[in-house]
Amino acid sequence: MNSQNIYILGIESSCDDTAAAVIHNGKILSNIIASQKIHEEYGGVVPELASRAHQQNIVPVVDQALKKAGITKDKLSAVAFTKGPGLMGSLLVGTSFAKSLAYGLNIPLIDVNHMQAHILAHFIDEEGFEKPPFPFLAMTISGGHTQIVKVNNHFDMKVIGETIDDAVGEAFDKSGKLLGLGYPAGPEIDKRAKLGNPKAFKFSKPKVDGLNFSFSGLKTAILYFIQREVKNNPNFIEENLNDICASIQYTIIGILTDKLKKASKETGIKHIAIGGGVSANSGIRQALKDGETKHGWTTYIPKFEFTTDNAAMIAIVGYLKYLEKDFASQNVMATARLKI
Ligand code: KG4
Ligand code: ZN
Repeated sequence: MNSQNIYILGIESSCDDTAAAVIHNGKILSNIIASQKIHEEYGGVVPELASRAHQQNIVPVVDQALKKAGITKDKLSAVAFTKGPGLMGSLLVGTSFAKSLAYGLNIPLIDVNHMQAHILAHFIDEEGFEKPPFPFLAMTISGGHTQIVKVNNHFDMKVIGETIDDAVGEAFDKSGKLLGLGYPAGPEIDKRAKLGNPKAFKFSKPKVDGLNFSFSGLKTAILYFIQREVKNNPNFIEENLNDICASIQYTIIGILTDKLKKASKETGIKHIAIGGGVSANSGIRQALKDGETKHGWTTYIPKFEFTTDNAAMIAIVGYLKYLEKDFASQNVMATARLKI
């Protein structure tokens, strides 16, 4: 492999985080992220506000990423950016910025698929983190995505299962909203679940064919359950919050691991990697570890800062594509519904 002095700037702006990172060969030099607090008051991402915040944040975030990396922009070999999938208004900011910068510096432009990037984040050189061998299964779980992907090679990936409605992170966040928790509720549910009984309340798992997922039924089941219980006891939520959180989390983990087991069985692949914000969940991490003893899996969980939306994952894909000379033209367009 060619590994001279290759510096790539990665830019991510697909949802509500404005992020920039610099990678030198395979190693991350800086990974800067500006999260947008504004959405907390609305209990979810407001696309119009996200685009505006990206426009305010993009230059300072890129500037900080270059400074932290200790380089000036004339050292850059290429600019990589998220082409999609994501919110169109958000993607347009990163795409336009990346195009202009690459044009101004007269260096290659590299378009990156955000979902591939979540998976390829495993290939960042990082001490103490092993890279999964091909082929492996990748489960990407976040507020925007829920997929199981068969990864044959860096750029040969096949989605073998995905959600037909809500993403798993939404299941956490919407359940949390029903319980009066703040947004995003995933981390709080996780914290409370550790103190509660996962079998206190039973929620049925959806019946979905193949390796696909569904989470919207669970949200409705939780809504009706809460309404019913609160009618009998107005203090039901406060009195049982930890048990409710533990039971919801237990159900969600069951839904995810059932499909993962099925995917591993059907493909015969036992190397399992996860990514996305929900992979921070302690119950999911434990379930994967249990799979190592129960099913002979080898599991891979990237460093936390590379699992949530970030630009380091965009930069590593930029680097891998740079080595292949796989560049984008200046006509490239942001694509909200980009497939793997
Ligand atoms: O990857 P991410 O930062 O952004 C995207 O959605 O792409 O993921 C955010 C999601 C939110 O839904 C949040 O509630 C969830 O990840 N999350 C968690 C935990 N930490 C973050 N869900 C469950 N347990 C956690 N510890
Ligand atoms: Zn993401």
